[in-house]
Amino acid sequence: MRIDIITLFPQMFQGPLTESILQRAQDQHLLEIHYHDLRTFGIGKYHQVDDTPYGGGAGMVMRADVLVGAIETISANTAPTPSPSPVSGRGGKPHVIYFSPRGKKLRQPMVEKIVKKYEWLILVCGHYEGIDQRVIDGGWIDEEMSIGDYVLTGGELPAMVLIDALARQIPGVLGHSESAAEESFSAALDRKKEYPHYTKPAEFEGMKVPDVLVSGDHKKIAEWRKKQVR
Ligand code: ADE
Repeated sequence: MRIDIITLFPQMFQGPLTESILQRAQDQHLLEIHYHDLRTFGIGKYHQVDDTPYGGGAGMVMRADVLVGAIETISANTAPTPSPSPVSGRGGKPHVIYFSPRGKKLRQPMVEKIVKKYEWLILVCGHYEGIDQRVIDGGWIDEEMSIGDYVLTGGELPAMVLIDALARQIPGVLGHSESAAEESFSAALDRKKEYPHYTKPAEFEGMKVPDVLVSGDHKKIAEWRKKQVR
């Protein structure tokens, strides 16, 4: 999967996307991330990207002409090369997602659908009071997405949350021991939350590991785990 990120703060992504599983996915070319500093699409000497809202009020609004310029320029780049596990009918045109508290709330089935359906995403990270509504109404945004009912300072953290959730569903990204098949919110667990986990020591601060887990009885363990799902 190829992901192009439009942001005023490309540096924010260093760390969360350059460690552990997400870095490994990029090393293996299962995930390809491109950063685009919106400022480079800005207008005039000062590369202006925002302006005051019509109708007055606090804050600034990101300009439609600047954002559309960025989306169209990036979309005109060549489509991504198919990943090692190509799925037909994808690629060609990017699916454009804009993050805002007004968007549809992200849930695990949406994550799985995006991975199955799209080979190429553009993520638009808004700031200030948001973006000019005409970018959305004019059809440049395919999906407006929220990661929860609270307000963040911008779309960068939501973009990182989405990328992390997407990456672990891309075939080959997780190792066998990290499998996503029977984890919380998976179809295999009826979209419910996973059972609790324990490891050594067998007793900690007076608390023992449930007897069934040390019984060696795999059938009973499976039954116990099934009951713990909620
Ligand atoms: N931008 C600001 N808050 C947000 C949220 N909760 N989800 C997505 N984008 C946002």
